[in-house]
Amino acid sequence: MSKPDWKNFEPVLIPDIPDLDQIKNYEKNGGYSALKSVFTDNDKWPDSKSVINEVKEANIRGRGGAGFNAGLKWSFMPPADGGPRYLACNGDESEPGTFKDRKIFEYNPHIFIEGALIAAYAMEITTIYVYIRGEYKSYIDMMEEAIQDAYDAGYIGKDILGSGRDIEFYVHSGAGAYICGEETSMLESLEGKRGYPRVKPPFPAQKGLWGRPTTINNIETLAHVPAVINRGAEWFKGVGAKNHPGPVLYGISGHVNRPGVYELPSGVPVLDLIHDVAQGIKGGKELKAVIPGGSSTPVLRADQLDGITMDSDSLRTVGTMMGTAGMVVMDEDTDMVDVLWRIAHFYHHESCGQCTPCREGTGWLEKILLKIKNGEGEVKDLDLLLDLTTQMEGRTICALADAAAWPVRHTINRFRDEFEARCKKSVHALA
Ligand code: NAI
Ligand code: SF4
Repeated sequence: MSKPDWKNFEPVLIPDIPDLDQIKNYEKNGGYSALKSVFTDNDKWPDSKSVINEVKEANIRGRGGAGFNAGLKWSFMPPADGGPRYLACNGDESEPGTFKDRKIFEYNPHIFIEGALIAAYAMEITTIYVYIRGEYKSYIDMMEEAIQDAYDAGYIGKDILGSGRDIEFYVHSGAGAYICGEETSMLESLEGKRGYPRVKPPFPAQKGLWGRPTTINNIETLAHVPAVINRGAEWFKGVGAKNHPGPVLYGISGHVNRPGVYELPSGVPVLDLIHDVAQGIKGGKELKAVIPGGSSTPVLRADQLDGITMDSDSLRTVGTMMGTAGMVVMDEDTDMVDVLWRIAHFYHHESCGQCTPCREGTGWLEKILLKIKNGEGEVKDLDLLLDLTTQMEGRTICALADAAAWPVRHTINRFRDEFEARCKKSVHALA
């Protein structure tokens, strides 16, 4: 595959335009033209389905981590029956290493609002909620303001642009629980209940908020929609990697000289992101490892990265995933045992406790890793940990147990020497 020309890429979501968060500036720069087209140009968009088809064709892979085709998800909504239908926009972004959606809230909230309204039009949705993690207090305030400005401009509310469509838009603040970013748990939270994930199926499109058809999309996913409408699905598909197309907000953190959120095409080589975009490893040290897309995506050793690009096909060849494109870069001095223990501690703390394999399993993962970290573990504990991960994976209501199990399995397998070196010699090994 040819490398995308990322050095000459013009950002779409977070372009370098001052005060783009102000609705007037957003409009001056072409903002809300996609919405106007969808809501009023009946020749171009004869019905809701035509909008869904364009987005489906663009293949916007969900940017919240799962990578599901957004338009395909929209097509799962049953036909409208006159009752309420919902869009829940997921701005919880609690996955460790993930901090990209806040750039949209901060620099370009209207591109997300416009995308959400087009999604609502396409799925004949009546009410939109944007669920934002409570820690993002300042962004919650900014979103409230941006939504009010969009109401005042006639883009939200009754009979939008004379289309006969009514859509209401509300901000909902999270209260600090990671699990509320899981889509069905978020629905419970929006209903005012404790954030317990629901069993799927039924999927939210069939039975979502208050039992009504609901679609859940990530903030960045929705922010891509206006460009797809304005420039067409073919344009979007032509950006970056073939099977995971479009611009991506890469959040790069860890031991790099210039951490931050960068909007570039999908499919940028991992090593270019580290050495060019983020300007290399701090203090001129060597690269040791990378978590490519949030803490649940399996870690890669530096020697696995040659020729690997940030898209699902390429990352699959080395046994990992794109996730949220929140890359955590680690230098040669990083203690992988400590890293893994911290990740395990996080998932144990955040498990909602409904399922035994997750409630108990995450606790045992953390406990055994702490023992190894403290130099009290034995080599056989590593195999116990690996066995535990197989007892947890695929046996629970939601993906948190998988997300806790994968880093343990892959970090131990990829850095086994380092873990063994931290273990006491077992009685058996000494004999
Ligand atoms: P999933 O793969 O189960 O589902 C993806 C989406 O497609 C969901 O909206 C689901 O309802 C829908 N879907 C899948 N199959 C369907 C079907 N047959 N019919 C109708 N709808 C269907 O993944 P999930 O649980 O939504 O997300 C897990 C991912 O989230 C992980 O890969 C992880 O990377 C990411 N994550 C992101 C976080 C963040 O802060 N952004 C936090 C934690 C995890
Ligand atoms: Fe709760 Fe864990 Fe079960 Fe998810 S897998 S529902 S977080 S106990």
